[in-house]
Amino acid sequence: MTPEPENRETLTITDNRNGKSYEVPIENGTIKAPDLRKIKTGPEDFGIMTYDPAYMNTASCKSTITFIDGDKGILEYRGYPIAELAEKTSFLETAWLILNGELPTKEQYKAWVDEITVHTMVHENITSVLQSFRYDAHPMAMLASSVAALSTFYPEAKQVHDPEVRRMQIVRLIAKTPTLAAFAYRHSIGFPFAYPDNDLSFAGNFLQMMYRTAEPKYTPNPILEKALDVLFILHADHEQNCSTSAMRAVGSSEVDPYCAASAAVSALYGPLHGGANEAVLRMLKGIGSKDHVPAFVKDVKESGGDVKLMGFGHRVYKNYDPRAKILKQMADQVFGVTGRNPLLDIALELERIALEDDYFIKRKLYPNVDFYSGLIYQAMKFPVDMFPVLFAIGRMAGWLAQWNEMIQDKDQKIARPRQVYLGYRDRSFVPFDRRG
Ligand code: CMC
Repeated sequence: MTPEPENRETLTITDNRNGKSYEVPIENGTIKAPDLRKIKTGPEDFGIMTYDPAYMNTASCKSTITFIDGDKGILEYRGYPIAELAEKTSFLETAWLILNGELPTKEQYKAWVDEITVHTMVHENITSVLQSFRYDAHPMAMLASSVAALSTFYPEAKQVHDPEVRRMQIVRLIAKTPTLAAFAYRHSIGFPFAYPDNDLSFAGNFLQMMYRTAEPKYTPNPILEKALDVLFILHADHEQNCSTSAMRAVGSSEVDPYCAASAAVSALYGPLHGGANEAVLRMLKGIGSKDHVPAFVKDVKESGGDVKLMGFGHRVYKNYDPRAKILKQMADQVFGVTGRNPLLDIALELERIALEDDYFIKRKLYPNVDFYSGLIYQAMKFPVDMFPVLFAIGRMAGWLAQWNEMIQDKDQKIARPRQVYLGYRDRSFVPFDRRG
């Protein structure tokens, strides 16, 4: 008869090299990797480590910011479902929530919006930094450089253990990122920079800095302004993704948040992270028409993984990405203003066929946030190079909340993973004339 389990929150590990058993505590469904170090074959043995490239099954921190249940398709910021936040809050309200843990009171919200609004301007010398880039410089590389350059204007930002200093840099980074982003775009088209207009909302001002030409006052279209605000909310945080992990790892050296955020922007620049919506557009253009969709889906299935249905699948979501659902509904409102993006019909047909197909059902491949965001950005006349930049504007709130949490977390130290060394040891030096 099998003995009754003892119901203890521990894990017993038997080392079959010597038959010894060890008991390690389980806390929040995890064991602490350093607890494995006591599993050794002798005093010289370093002890067992875990090997986990790409952190497939390693929690690098405790966090109270963002919850994702990938199987059920749930995303919550501080416990509030993303759909409700997208419908009922503004981006700055959500940014406050992410940063502070609670929704702001009316007074807190007003003070926060005022504070962000008065910090949208950048030091004039930053414009010389941006002007020095070549006309065809990618705006994401310009953003990474100019965010790092901000560090030189605020040397007090190094005092990362001072809560008021941290708060001030958080305000500056959220307020100034759209300005740097829009300036990078204006440089690429040879237009003079459009300075912030403090009468406009966060998203409205960004549209103004992007698109104002000769008119003395730019009035954003309210539907597009709202849509952009929602896009910022949807991108505001996504727990320990590649760029957030970069922010935390670089920030763990106690460098100032401008340099850490610049590293996060760089991580987001990569095509596997912030660039997939551009790939979706290229794919839809390549398919060309609704009638070609079945043949494309067949190619994907027969390619053995070489041809991907871009904007489908996710490392964490094994269900419909809740952000994609919101964007699909929002697309109609945006297209009501901009005219219908002709690629939408191809996208809808692709989604319809894929969701009925065994290949995609079996692998739990559903549309992710990038499937519809590119179509909306394109309809709003954002050039493709700006797509990851738009992502960075929203995600800055999440990066900073995660950085702030990390700095105050007593469990955290400078990020310093171990390695499994498989190279040579103890070799004798060989001079040039004896090297083959
Ligand atoms: N189209 C066709 N087949 C796919 C796709 C796809 N988009 N994604 C995964 N598969 C297949 C894959 O070939 C594999 O099949 P098999 O089991 O026969 O080998 C199976 O599904 C499992 O895929 P995986 O590569 O092990 O999954 P992953 O978790 O490593 O990859 C992903 C996740 C997002 C990189 C991948 O789904 C992908 O490349 N999707 C397309 C690119 C994309 O849309 N990226 C945006 C992600 S959301 C933005 C963000 O949050 O940063």
